[in-house]
Amino acid sequence: MQDLINNKKFLFFGGKGGVGKTTMASSTAVWLADQGYDTLVVATDPTVSLSAIFEQQIGETEVTRIKEVKNLCGLNINPKKASGVFQARLNHMVDELTGMFGKEVMSTPCAEEMAAFDQFVSYLNSDEHDIIVFDTAPTGHTLRELSMPFDWANYISRQLQNRLVLGKLLNIKVGGDTLDNLNIEQKRYENAIKILADTKTTLFTLVLLAENLPIEETARAIENLSQLKINVPALIINEIIPTEVLKGNWFLEKRRSTQDRYLDIIGKRFKDLYKKEVPLFETDITGIENMRKIGKILYG
Ligand SMILES: Nc1ncnc2c1ncn2[C@@H]1O[C@H](COP(=O)(O)OP(=O)(O)OP(=O)(O)O)[C@@H](O)[C@H]1O
Ligand SMILES: [Mg+2]
Repeated sequence: MQDLINNKKFLFFGGKGGVGKTTMASSTAVWLADQGYDTLVVATDPTVSLSAIFEQQIGETEVTRIKEVKNLCGLNINPKKASGVFQARLNHMVDELTGMFGKEVMSTPCAEEMAAFDQFVSYLNSDEHDIIVFDTAPTGHTLRELSMPFDWANYISRQLQNRLVLGKLLNIKVGGDTLDNLNIEQKRYENAIKILADTKTTLFTLVLLAENLPIEETARAIENLSQLKINVPALIINEIIPTEVLKGNWFLEKRRSTQDRYLDIIGKRFKDLYKKEVPLFETDITGIENMRKIGKILYG
């Protein structure tokens, strides 16, 4: 997988709940920092998963230096707080116009994810770190929802612009700040999508288990992202039972043969994607030492 992350600036790890996104993102960040890159790992998780895996408190607004790893910082964006900021910005824009989409947008089920993504965006233009690793990639669904208000913004802004011309002719004052704000938001969103879709700077990796539901979810995510021209080149298949531990144990053998069946399906269904298997560890993954083990498996 090392080839895939070479020269990238943004690494996104996505996937179904509990499949190992935080584990893979954090281990990747540790590996990169160990290689000498100034690395930031960002999570947008209502829980404190980053703090748990790094076994230290990680800030919600200020990036926190990871004590045991040189070159590594972490940030745990709080989606609830982020959604406050996002909502305020949208509302400000919208209130001045029509109230056409502000409130409805904020009551969609993924409003928090949208807000979190909006916070991602502010890091996309930052030059403070060599590489930023995102625990939890925005899904195609989130991105489309996010695009909605800005499509509206675009629409309204065009309407306003037309009226501006008309207004000028008739000597009526329309727009002003609002029009500029709309344009800024529109650009911000377009720029974010452009960066996400740019395979030179960005890598999307989906994490899954060799099980039915994660496979379906992965297929859906790939399809949704592809509609936004965002490519997913790599899959990490996590928690594969190592064959050396089977030793005739019927239960483990049965589990592993089930995994083999799904690995076969994954191979066929995601034929063109790079795939990396990560073994099931005998414990959960916390602490730098475990993350270094995973990093070694992923990148050598
Ligand atoms: N290969 C592995 N072997 C053993 N335990 C693992 C492995 N990968 C992940 N785990 C454990 O599985 C649990 C879920 O992993 P993780 O928190 O990385 O998933 P996640 O996708 O980020 O979950 P969420 O969707 O809740 O954010 C954690 O307790 C983690 O330590
Ligand atoms: Mg997580």
